[in-house]
Amino acid sequence: MNQHDIAQSSQTEWMGQEIFCYNTLDSTNVKAKELAEEGYPSGTLVIAESQTAGRGRRGRDWNSQEGTGIFMSFILKPELTSEPAEQNPPGLISASAEQNQSGLTIENASMVTLVCALAVSMGISQVTGAEAQIKWPNDIVMNGRKICGILTEMSVVSGKVGHVVVGIGINVSNLQFPEEIANTAGSLYTETGKFFQRAEIVGAILEKFETYYALFLKTQDLSLMQEEYNGLLANRNREVRVLDPREPFEGKALGITEKGELIVETPQGKQMVSGGEVSVRGIYGYV
Ligand code: BTN
Repeated sequence: MNQHDIAQSSQTEWMGQEIFCYNTLDSTNVKAKELAEEGYPSGTLVIAESQTAGRGRRGRDWNSQEGTGIFMSFILKPELTSEPAEQNPPGLISASAEQNQSGLTIENASMVTLVCALAVSMGISQVTGAEAQIKWPNDIVMNGRKICGILTEMSVVSGKVGHVVVGIGINVSNLQFPEEIANTAGSLYTETGKFFQRAEIVGAILEKFETYYALFLKTQDLSLMQEEYNGLLANRNREVRVLDPREPFEGKALGITEKGELIVETPQGKQMVSGGEVSVRGIYGYV
């Protein structure tokens, strides 16, 4: 997979206008962060064939063997780059890009990860023809197995968002998984029996993200995509255990709020669960 393959597979205004492809990196999130600090604009994409220190959520590792998956990260910035216009790729200064100026705040940045989950789910379904669902807040599952994880990292400068790096790891052609995740993990191959062109999947995700991010910036919340997200929510109407470090509880997951909280119905009433340190498990399986 190279820049050309990805550019051929996507028609975007600002996502992926700058693409950096590597054979091996420690982590695409780390590289994207460096590029953001060097001044690269929103939409800049970093891809690696393998990672030596792929990072997962909650300090876990992300299995990143060569030839098995998609390891990608992109940059979001609250404002347009101040680089001279002639250095900007064509199309960067566009209606969608201008919306970036209204921006990302620390309060709403956590919703970006749900926007991304929706974009990834739709992109994967479009290319594979198979349904990819969302396990709240941002794991993508097929047939109840996790095929993709998303790690969003934010830099804060003087109390404001400096940049956000969104990292996406998709298991594409893995045939098997290490013992500790063998019961819960899957790949596009294990779940569909088919191999797919990775560039097509990346291209579809870039396009979908651009669309949904514009909707998010319009309202600064998820109200314009809440129904679609809920329609893809694998936990919906299922019994879940909320692993709240203060007090774990169980209930039925109903859907998300406009702010991306999970609504869980319990005998004591509805509880709104926000991401962060809380995770949710299915009582009768991973989802
Ligand atoms: C999770 O734990 O579910 C999130 C996994 C995120 C993995 C991706 S792979 C590309 C990017 N670079 C990283 O180091 N992590 C993310």
